[in-house]
Amino acid sequence: MDKDIYILAIESSCDETAAAVVKNGREVLSNVIYSQIDIHTLFGGVVPEIASRKHIEKINPVISRALSDSGMTLSEMDAVAVTYGPGLVGPLLVGVAEAKALAYAAGKPLVPVHHIEGHICANYVENKDLEPPFLCMVVSGGHTHLVMVNDYADYTILGRTRDDAAGEAFDKVARAIGLGYPGGPKIDKAAREGDPRAIEFPRGHVRESDLDFSFSGVKSAVLNYLNDCHMKGIEVNTTDVAASFQASIVEVIVEHTMLAARETGARKIALAGGVASNTALRTAMEEACAHHGYSFYKPSPLLCTDNAAMIGAAGYYDFINGIRAGLDLNAVPNLKLGER
Ligand code: KG4
Ligand code: ZN
Repeated sequence: MDKDIYILAIESSCDETAAAVVKNGREVLSNVIYSQIDIHTLFGGVVPEIASRKHIEKINPVISRALSDSGMTLSEMDAVAVTYGPGLVGPLLVGVAEAKALAYAAGKPLVPVHHIEGHICANYVENKDLEPPFLCMVVSGGHTHLVMVNDYADYTILGRTRDDAAGEAFDKVARAIGLGYPGGPKIDKAAREGDPRAIEFPRGHVRESDLDFSFSGVKSAVLNYLNDCHMKGIEVNTTDVAASFQASIVEVIVEHTMLAARETGARKIALAGGVASNTALRTAMEEACAHHGYSFYKPSPLLCTDNAAMIGAAGYYDFINGIRAGLDLNAVPNLKLGER
C-alpha cells in the first residue's frame, strides 16, 4: 500500500480505558491506558457498573491524550477502530458509542474489532517480520484459545478451555491464598520466592481432547489443599502454593502448544493475552520453542494486557480488508473468534 494508514483505536471491554494511534498496523504512535485496577481492587474483582461509569468519565481525556501524544489530529486519521466484543456489555458500549460519535462527526470509516483478534495482533507491533501463518496461544482473563492464525483475520481454533480461563484461575487462586486482585501479577511475583515442586497439583488436560484445557480442577485442588491445611492447623506456605499452581498451569499451556505445533507443522509460535505477561510462562514457552527449533514471539507485557495499540493493529488489517461498521454497530459481549 502506497499511502500510510493511521488508525485511532479505542478499547474499553473490561477495566482499562484505552486509546492509541497506530500507523500501518505495526507502528504505535501513541498508546494511552487508564487502568481502573485500583478501584476494582477494593471489591476483589471488576464491578461492571463501576467500570462503565469510569469509562464514561475517562474516555474523552484518554482519546485526546492519544491524539496529542501522536502529534496528529482526528481529521488526519483514516479510520476509527473500536473493540465491540467480547467483553462486558456496559464497558463495551461506552467505547462503541464514542467511536460511532467520532466517526460520524469527523466523517471517518468505523472499523469493528474483535478483542481477541486484537490480543493476537499485539504480536505484530514489536515483531515487524511476523506474518501468518503462525500458532498463537491466547491466554487472557476471559479466554484460553489455542489458535492457528492462517492469515490476517483468518483463524482456526484448535483448542480451548472447557471451564475457567487461565487468567480466571490465576485470579481465583490468588484470592483464595489472600493475595488479592488482580491475581495474575501477584501470583507471578509470589511464585518467584516459592518452590514449584512443593505441591503436586493436577494438570488441566482433557482426556478426550488433547488440545483443550480444563483449569477448574487445578483451582479446586488448590482450594481443597488450603482447606485441608486449615483443618489440620498447618501453616500455608503461600509462595509454594503460588509457584506450584503456576507450574501446573504453565506446563499444560506449553505442552498443548507444542503438541499443536507438531500436529499442524507450524514453525512460528506466539503468545497473547494478559497471562502472556507471566514471567514463568514466557520463559517456559521460549525454552520449549528453542528446544524444538520454533521461532517464538511475544508482545512486551504492556501490550499483553488490555490496550488499544493492539486494537489499532487488528483494525488496520480489518480496514485494508474492507471491513466497516455502520452507525448501528452494537456491542456483542459473547462474540466468538472468527465471527462478525
Ligand atoms: O487480556 P487481559 O488484560 O484481559 C482480558 O481480556 O481478559 O487479561 C487479564 C488477565 C487477568 O486474569 C490477570 O490476572 C492476568 O491476565 N494476568 C496475569 C499476569 N498479568 C495479568 N496472569 C499471570 N501472570 C501475570 N503476570
Ligand atoms: Zn483482553
